[in-house]
Amino acid sequence: MIGLPENFLIMDIQTNYPLQSLNTFGMKASAAAFAEIKNREDVVTVYQSPFKKIRVLGGGSNILLLNNLDGLVLLNRIKGREIIEESEQHVLVAIGGGENWHETVSWAVNQDFGGLENLSLIPGTVGAAPIQNIGAYGVELKDVFHSLEAFDFQSGQFQNFSDKDCAFGYRYSLFKEKKNAFRYFITKVVLKLTKPPHTLNCSYGAIKATLSEMGISDSKITIKDVGRAVESIRRSKLPDPSLTPNAGSFFKNPLISKDKFEQLKNSFPGIVGYPQSETTVKIAAGWLIEAAGWKGKRIGHVGCHHQQALVLVNYDGEEGREIFDLARAIQSDIHSLFGIKLEPEVNYWS
Ligand code: EPU
Repeated sequence: MIGLPENFLIMDIQTNYPLQSLNTFGMKASAAAFAEIKNREDVVTVYQSPFKKIRVLGGGSNILLLNNLDGLVLLNRIKGREIIEESEQHVLVAIGGGENWHETVSWAVNQDFGGLENLSLIPGTVGAAPIQNIGAYGVELKDVFHSLEAFDFQSGQFQNFSDKDCAFGYRYSLFKEKKNAFRYFITKVVLKLTKPPHTLNCSYGAIKATLSEMGISDSKITIKDVGRAVESIRRSKLPDPSLTPNAGSFFKNPLISKDKFEQLKNSFPGIVGYPQSETTVKIAAGWLIEAAGWKGKRIGHVGCHHQQALVLVNYDGEEGREIFDLARAIQSDIHSLFGIKLEPEVNYWS
C-alpha cells in the first residue's frame, strides 16, 4: 500500500477483508482495509497512518452491517488480565479490551471474585462492554466499573476515564455520543470486584425461580450458583448466536412518561412497565412487539424470535438490509399502535 509509514509495515493490513464471521448476525460484508490490534503500540501506529476513516470492532455482537465498509476496520485483540490492587474486600482487575466478556466472567467466578456473575453469557468483548454499559438481570457494567484507558484518535493520546467521565446511563455512555463515534479505542478496562463474603443480586424474579428449581437454599447461594442460574435463563430464552445469528436485544426498552403509561394501561391492561422515577416508566419493548403480533414472524431470511420478541434473528440471509427493513416495519407498527418510538440498541454500520 502506498504512503504508509515504515513502522506500519510491521502490522498486517488486509484488503477487502470478509467480515461475515466477525459479526454475530453473520451478514456478508467486507472491509476495504482490516487489521488486528494486539497491543497499545499498534494503536499508535494506526494513528500515524494515512487512514482517515477508522472503525473499531469488538465481538461484532451489537452491530448490523448494511454494506461493504470503506476505510480501515480494527479488531481489538488486546489480551491480558492482571490484579492491580487488592484489599480485604475488593480486587481491582485490569483487563485487555480484546478479551472475551464471558470468559472474563467465568475467570472471575472461578477466582471467587464477585460482581460479574449476573452478566454471564453476554456476547462481546471487555472493551465494548462500557460503550453501551451492558446489563442484565439487575446488574449493569457501571456497578463494577472502576476506570478505563482509551486511545483518542482525535488528540493522538491515551486517556484515562473514571466512572463519572463515562457518564453511564441505560445502554449508554459518553462513547455512544454521535460526536465520539469511533473516536476512542478502548485498550484496558479496570473492574472493581468483591471478595467473599459477596453481596448477591438475586432481585430478578427469574433468578430466584431458577435457583429454587436448582434446589439451592437461600442461605447457601454462591456467585457460581447465580452465574449458573443466569446462564440457564439466557439459554432457555435467548437464541445462541452461533446457531441462530442475532445481536441480542435489537431495540432499547423505551422510557415514557407516567401519564402516558397510565393512558396506555387503559387500552392495554397487560402492558409491562417498570417505574424509573416519579414521572417516568420504562416499557418492556418485547411486550409491545409481541402485542403488535410480530413475535415468531419470519419475513424472507430474517425474523422476530419466537421466544423473545426483542431479538431479531437472521435465519439464512446474508444482507443486513433485510434486518434493517424488518426493524423499520416493527418500529412503524409500534409507533402507530402505541405512539412509542422504538430506538435500536444495535448500531448500524454503513
Ligand atoms: N416480554 C414479552 N414478550 C417478549 C419478551 C418480553 O411480553 O417476547 C415482556 C415480559 O413481560 C417480560 C418483560 O418483557 O417479563 C421483560 O423481558 P426480559 O426479562 O426478557 O427482559 P427485556 O427487557 O426484554 C432486558 C435486556 C436484555 C437482558 C434482559 C434481562 C434491554 C434492551 N434488554 O431485556 O439484554 O438480558 O433485560 O435482564 O434492556 C441485550 O441487551 O442484548 C440483552 C439481551
